[in-house]
Amino acid sequence: MNFPDKFKPLLSAVAERMSEKRYRHTLGVAEAADRIASYCLADCRDGIIAAALLHDVAKELDTREALEIIRNHTDYSDSDLICEAAHHSLAAPYVILRDFPEYADRDVLSAVRNHTVGSPDMSLFDEIIFVADYVEAGRAYGDCIRAREALFSALEASRDSEECIMHLHRITREILDYTITYVINRQRFLHPRTVETRNAFLSREPMPYQEEIKWKI
Ligand SMILES: [Fe+2]
Repeated sequence: MNFPDKFKPLLSAVAERMSEKRYRHTLGVAEAADRIASYCLADCRDGIIAAALLHDVAKELDTREALEIIRNHTDYSDSDLICEAAHHSLAAPYVILRDFPEYADRDVLSAVRNHTVGSPDMSLFDEIIFVADYVEAGRAYGDCIRAREALFSALEASRDSEECIMHLHRITREILDYTITYVINRQRFLHPRTVETRNAFLSREPMPYQEEIKWKI
């Protein structure tokens, strides 16, 4: 992807903070997020690129440092402390406010915070970063490939942005299903916010059995 010139300083600052492998992943997330935004949120493409480039900016902090930031600078729950996979996303808004204040707007901070475990009231902006992190081209895991192919073929076949957003919501829920299954199969801690997010997206889907449940109630 050719990034606009204005992102060059951010690209080099981000590259300095991470391994080459993580930097490649970061570029993949920016490319996927920009592509999704072109279908679903075309007015926010610059913000989406900034959020994607910064989403893993705290991933290489050690656990002690990340926990110190979470404890001292965020509202956190016990689950946030237990769920190690979430630490880098919860610590990242503080790191961005401290080191990249020019990018620290509400959308970017929220998307970065929610990109690992999700949030039941995620914005469309948050959702694009969450999905892009899972479907970026460098991910070779079967579920990621399935989600990537399903997402981009649905977006390409859609008639308008409303239809694109509907497909994006469905893929978000499928990614949450994949993630929950993955975490359970490995007997790891499952963050309750991931389950709440999955149920929130499922409840908005026009599925036959959802209708059936409502009828029974
Ligand atoms: Fe990531």
